[in-house]
Amino acid sequence: MGQIETVLQKFQTNTRDNLLPILQEIQQETGFLSEEAIIKVSGYLKIPTSKIYAVATFYDQFRFTPRAKYRIKICSGTACHITGAESILDQLEKKLKIKAGETSRGGLVSLELSQCIGACGLAPVILVNDTFYPEVTAEKIDEIVDFVNSKVEN
Ligand code: FES
Repeated sequence: MGQIETVLQKFQTNTRDNLLPILQEIQQETGFLSEEAIIKVSGYLKIPTSKIYAVATFYDQFRFTPRAKYRIKICSGTACHITGAESILDQLEKKLKIKAGETSRGGLVSLELSQCIGACGLAPVILVNDTFYPEVTAEKIDEIVDFVNSKVEN
């Protein structure tokens, strides 16, 4: 039995009230709401897929694409901005060949800007998943990008 069916089975009463809890649990299990998941939920709850998308897109919490394996966040708060966040972003965009807000093909890495993360004294800072990098330099970015690129499966 697949992950989606396992989640659906937990909700024995297939009423519409279960839509949000089901979507939340599927996302928790699989990381995002795939088209396949939406179709299965639609069949289970007898709700058209268009309605499910309408509900799910209303909430910020739902994702419709898989999360990247390495999620790089560049702080764009004032202190980081002054100390070079823009050139860090520029360097990352060029090296990874994606723009802020994008995910690389294959879902290996994504780039995003964040608000101040409260470590202004160590600016500029970035996060790679949950790992915090303070006082980031061009050399450090090279190291991080080399590491991410070494994870590309051949
Ligand atoms: S501005 Fe970047 S940590 Fe505060």
